[in-house]
Amino acid sequence: MNSDETISWGELLEATAIDLGNEQEARWLCEHASGLDRTEFDLALSDLVSERCGLALQKLVGRRLAGEPLQYVMSRWAFRHLDVLVDQRVLIPRPETELVVQVAIDLMRDAQQKIDRKLRITDLGTGSGVIGLAIASELPLASAEVWLTDLSDDALDVARANLAGLGLVDGDVRIAQGDWFSALPSELKNSFDLVVSNPPYIALYDPNIESIVRNYEPHLALFAGSDGLDAYRQIISQAGQWLVSGGWLVLEIGHEQGAEIHTLLNENNFRDIEIREDYSQRDRIALARKN
Ligand SMILES: C[S@@+](CC[C@H](N)C(=O)[O-])C[C@H]1O[C@@H](n2cnc3c(N)ncnc32)[C@H](O)[C@@H]1O
Repeated sequence: MNSDETISWGELLEATAIDLGNEQEARWLCEHASGLDRTEFDLALSDLVSERCGLALQKLVGRRLAGEPLQYVMSRWAFRHLDVLVDQRVLIPRPETELVVQVAIDLMRDAQQKIDRKLRITDLGTGSGVIGLAIASELPLASAEVWLTDLSDDALDVARANLAGLGLVDGDVRIAQGDWFSALPSELKNSFDLVVSNPPYIALYDPNIESIVRNYEPHLALFAGSDGLDAYRQIISQAGQWLVSGGWLVLEIGHEQGAEIHTLLNENNFRDIEIREDYSQRDRIALARKN
């Protein structure tokens, strides 16, 4: 790949697609290195590439060829209508999680019809903040107080940066560090309309985990004990103390965990328990209400 101001963006795009063996990724990385959006980049295809942009692209392509996930190389990813910062401090947001958010928003829109106060919501293990921030930005302005929590200070720095980019009403989103519910002020017990979480759910020695995931994503975001259920046990056993009566617990789950999560919810006295599927018809979302 050449970057000495004698090559146009169109030529460099073609060369990058060959290097990466992927036209779409080449396009995203070229747009990213040029600082242009898709439309601007189309108009710049015959412009010569500056040395600075050529070197920036070279670095990005090098990282990608070394095996780093595209989302980390780009430092950003789309989630529902948000464009969020992501890097190795946080899990890469997955499309299945967008469905979890949809379920949560539908439940909260319905709850809003029945109460005349602000909703209170927490996203436990928020990582980049995508679940809580998407909910906060899709519900009517100033209609909910959303608490984003994580054990990882690094992850919360990313969530904070993503919050800053959204222009939400002051005070509508709060950020708190700690182990699951212990991040929250104790006076908020029995006051949440929704507890939503995509906790770590991979078993420690799961042989099926892809190496790109194991090598790049934070292990605190992935692994949850020898059977992958440790985080669910903690969240499900404590959620009843934090929800209002009739409040909802919505969890993203591993596709083979539906039956176990159903049992855990049942044992902890939840009602209206449902396990829903994702785009691939695999169990992915558990929802239930506090009695
Ligand atoms: C699977 S990631 C989910 C991240 C984000 N919510 C998403 O859906 O993309 C799980 C998150 O839980 C956090 N976490 C792990 N153990 C925790 C604990 N004991 N208390 C609070 N958060 C924890 C991790 O740091 C990570 O950000």
